[in-house]
Amino acid sequence: MQATINHLNFSYRDQGNGEPVIFLHAFPLNQTMWDEQVAALSHHCRTVTIDLRGFGGSDAGHPPLTMEQMAADVRGLMSGLDIERATLVGLSMGGYVALAFYREYPDAVRALVLSDTRASADTHAARERRLQSAEKAEREGAAAIADDMVPLLLGETTRQTRPDIAARVRAMIEANSPHAISAAQRGMAARRDSIYILAAIDFPTLIIVGAEDQLTPPTEAESLRDGIRGARLQVIAGAGHLSNIERPVEFNAALTEFIESL
Ligand code: MLT
Repeated sequence: MQATINHLNFSYRDQGNGEPVIFLHAFPLNQTMWDEQVAALSHHCRTVTIDLRGFGGSDAGHPPLTMEQMAADVRGLMSGLDIERATLVGLSMGGYVALAFYREYPDAVRALVLSDTRASADTHAARERRLQSAEKAEREGAAAIADDMVPLLLGETTRQTRPDIAARVRAMIEANSPHAISAAQRGMAARRDSIYILAAIDFPTLIIVGAEDQLTPPTEAESLRDGIRGARLQVIAGAGHLSNIERPVEFNAALTEFIESL
């Protein structure tokens, strides 16, 4: 489905009925990373996925692609779909967007699932690496970014045993424009620290992390859990950073139990 939000064209999907759950994808992927979650959950609730600006079938607008702008796009989609409040499920960059969304529109969040992500801004070194990667995307294209990122996104177990998942992730990355990849890297490099808002979160929150996540390891997930009152943490064995793709059965079980408890 297509929607015009903030003067840009967005691709999104809206399936099922009941409580709305909005899924926010990782960098540099697209909304199809949530296919297994939509298949499992759209029988229980209303699932909405969106290609964040610049990714999949959505326009990029002007760089940088900031987390606040992406959050405003999600708010715009909600308005268009008559959704006042929703549960947000964000993985990695999607988690950055979910936290930016909560900062800007706290009353529009019913519950939060933060997967394989962090609340802190980039360190100086991480920002430098990102800016180099942004330049590389522009110079060498999306395939070069896939070469760098696929081994980091997937856990050791998946890398050894699931070439099909590696191929799926690579295809998602290569289908994106190098300019959008670069612009989102610059947006993430500029993202604000969200640690100070964690203590104010007063609704149910689930933290999920792959035990083999190298980009946002379980210690990051423990920090999120410790910072958010009442938050629960689920560590998924045998999964890396893309825990929902690598171990969908375990991820869906944790997500379904959480959503049914709301
Ligand atoms: C992601 O998976 O969204 C990225 O790894 C996030 C990041 O680069 O910080």
